[in-house]
Amino acid sequence: MNKKSTDIFPNQIKKILVTGGAGFIGSALVKRLLSDKSLKVFNLDKLTYASNLQSINDTVNQLCISESNYQFLKVDLKNFQETIDIINYIQPDVIFHLAAESHVDRSIQSPRIFVESNILGTFNLLEASKIYWENLDANRQESFRFHHVSTDEVYGSLGSKGYFSETSSYDPRSPYSASKASSDHLVKAWHYTYGLPIILTNCGNNYGPWQFPEKLIPVAISRAISNKPIPLYGDGSNMRDWIFVEDHIDALIATVIKGQVGKSYCIGASEQFTNLKVVQDICFLLDQYLPKGSPYSDLITLVNDRLGHDQRYAIDATRAIQELDWKPHYSFNEGLQLTVRWFLKNQDWCKQKA
Ligand SMILES: NC(=O)c1ccc[n+]([C@@H]2O[C@H](COP(=O)([O-])OP(=O)(O)OC[C@H]3O[C@@H](n4cnc5c(N)ncnc54)[C@H](O)[C@@H]3O)[C@@H](O)[C@H]2O)c1
Repeated sequence: MNKKSTDIFPNQIKKILVTGGAGFIGSALVKRLLSDKSLKVFNLDKLTYASNLQSINDTVNQLCISESNYQFLKVDLKNFQETIDIINYIQPDVIFHLAAESHVDRSIQSPRIFVESNILGTFNLLEASKIYWENLDANRQESFRFHHVSTDEVYGSLGSKGYFSETSSYDPRSPYSASKASSDHLVKAWHYTYGLPIILTNCGNNYGPWQFPEKLIPVAISRAISNKPIPLYGDGSNMRDWIFVEDHIDALIATVIKGQVGKSYCIGASEQFTNLKVVQDICFLLDQYLPKGSPYSDLITLVNDRLGHDQRYAIDATRAIQELDWKPHYSFNEGLQLTVRWFLKNQDWCKQKA
């Protein structure tokens, strides 16, 4: 049978569960999946401060998506009974697990919620998935995937040279990265011990439209637009590996289609810049798009460094590029232009969230 051009997955994959689908990356994934009307997409989210259903609801309306193709379910993964009930109700073919507390600064202030959502929440989802998966027929057991979406921060901090890869040792430094590292270990254990067909991705810093204005890029844009000081930790020399969110979504989908069960894949776009350079680039773009008489870079203000601030992350994505037939499409310059333009068009949303 010919597949329709819009089909994202092979035919046997029809019901997709996205946890954390109301967050920044999760909502971009849900919207991408909604473009394939042969899929039924379930968005499970607790709806924390970081959530936003507006962009998905806009897409649902624009594409005339019906309830048979999309359902939102308000669930906290901390609650095991609710989690198992919902898995049994959905009967998913694939789970993309993105639900997590995700902001390092908040993890330093209030670590408990990170342990509850990122570690206990992942444990509950794994247990519920294992029970469900063990009762599937052989064909569905074979094609089922539990895709755990993680971060490069689990590998710790690099010196001036070198890259993280799938063989790097785990060395998390912040409560956030420690909670994500713990969840990675649980996911791998559920594969080696029980045979659950898991796949892991560890990605660098994402940016793009709809990112909650607490992370570096949306904070810098929203502060600059409001003509307020743009805070920069330490001397601004900390380096991150940046990826436009749509390239990450491509990688998540490619991993489910082509990735090998039990393996992890490092995802990055080889776009490594210091925080200072990133903020200067944003100021430079704003000088062109929204001139205000003096350079936006005058607003850059160095503030006391974050506790335990990791110095440098850089990713070697060779395995993903070779084995997943994936590659990033957006240069940092292109992605940043799209992002700055989006925030300029959506200043009301940004001010409401900031
Ligand atoms: N943002 C990045 O740069 C980046 C990079 C690599 C990996 N990741 C990982 O990708 C995932 C998504 O990141 P994001 O930036 O979209 O985060 P986000 O904070 O924007 O969204 C996370 C979502 O998870 C939901 N959530 C949190 N705890 C939950 C719980 N107990 N039960 C149900 N839902 C819960 C929140 O309500 C929110 O909608 C996270 O797992 C994160 O660790 C993020």
